[in-house]
Amino acid sequence: KKVVLAYSGGLDTSVILKWLEVEYGCEVVTFTADLGQGEELEPARKKAEMLGVKPENIFIEDVREEFVRDFVFPMFRANAVYEGLYLLGTSIARPLISKRLVEIAAETGADAVAHGATGKGNDQVRFELSAYALNPEIKVIAPWREWDLSSRTRLIEFAEAHQIPIAKDKRGEAPFSVDANLLHTSSEGKVLEDPGKMAPDYVYQRTEDPLGGPDEPEYIEIGFEKGDAVSINGEAMSPATVLTRLNEHGKRHGIGRLDFVENRFVGMKSRGIYETPGGTILLEAHRGIEQITLDSGAGHLKDSLMPRYAELIYNGFWFSPEREMLQAAIDKSQEHVTGTVKLMLYKGFCRTVARWSDHSLYSEAHVTFEEDAGAYDQKDAEGFIRLNALRLKLIATRNQRVKG
Ligand code: ARG
Ligand code: SIN
Repeated sequence: KKVVLAYSGGLDTSVILKWLEVEYGCEVVTFTADLGQGEELEPARKKAEMLGVKPENIFIEDVREEFVRDFVFPMFRANAVYEGLYLLGTSIARPLISKRLVEIAAETGADAVAHGATGKGNDQVRFELSAYALNPEIKVIAPWREWDLSSRTRLIEFAEAHQIPIAKDKRGEAPFSVDANLLHTSSEGKVLEDPGKMAPDYVYQRTEDPLGGPDEPEYIEIGFEKGDAVSINGEAMSPATVLTRLNEHGKRHGIGRLDFVENRFVGMKSRGIYETPGGTILLEAHRGIEQITLDSGAGHLKDSLMPRYAELIYNGFWFSPEREMLQAAIDKSQEHVTGTVKLMLYKGFCRTVARWSDHSLYSEAHVTFEEDAGAYDQKDAEGFIRLNALRLKLIATRNQRVKG
């Protein structure tokens, strides 16, 4: 009996580690991923060793490039936003973690994986749907749905009984729940649970107060190739580096804060505070380059598919045929989404101020209000409008007759 645990090194997953050994009598393999959450990973190794995990059973990996290249960027090609506002920072990280859990299970001969998500949230659904999609035989253990340690006191007691070190600030009330990666930081629970009360300032951890930011706007240029950001201010860089740099720009100007009540897949509403500095800039820039490079038919169809695509990611269906179908269509639309966008960053917002591309569909010859040298015959618009008005006139005539 062997299980691969998604292990952060924190108190909760350390308790899970011991609990799996005690309750299930399993040998535990730990997987700790660097997704850009900004925490050292070596302490997690030390802690796993201290809790008795064999060195060959400790997996620690930097997956930042894979995360941005294969998950974040494909999602941004769609301009995906859940319920109009949420940039899906947690949702998009879960399938990658599950994928590695299942792969490590195969490598180490484990038959199960385990995670620390509660039975009330979306994350359990995402972890498990992804795991089953990749290995239909895999067993999943979700301790939060099974054990009797749901009170803080019981959890601490269990930790003490099993020599799990507890940081001083973790002894009392549980703090609000934070999930962070290169794309975003989310905070939920405790002081945030009443949506009628403003979030205290200390909840925000990776953006400056936008009102306190620089008094001068900053201008940056982002280069795109086939829908993906490839450079900043003319300097080519890897996907994870682009996002890291954009996070620095966004942080300074307080860009990408969101206070949001969303509908969880399991049915309840929940309130969260989100900080997505680089992602917010990237979304604006991507829309900026699409404005000149995407055809209106392709663009409007893509926009109409977006809410469905975002909902699939939110609900945990990254590894599903329908997400892959939509992805193929979205990727096809990006063939000419290549060029450069100039943005202004200033006190909490970012705005496209210029965009140019060799692949542009923008035709000054056609749009100009000056002499257009015969590119466009204004008389053509007469028949265009007449035919489009035909059915509107028929309806209006009928209505006059029937009302009579
Ligand atoms: N509500 C967000 C989502 O479902 C964030 C979840 C945060 N997860 C966490 N373990 N704190 O994507
Ligand atoms: C959790 O329940 O573990 C976090 C919140 C969520 O998954 O929606």
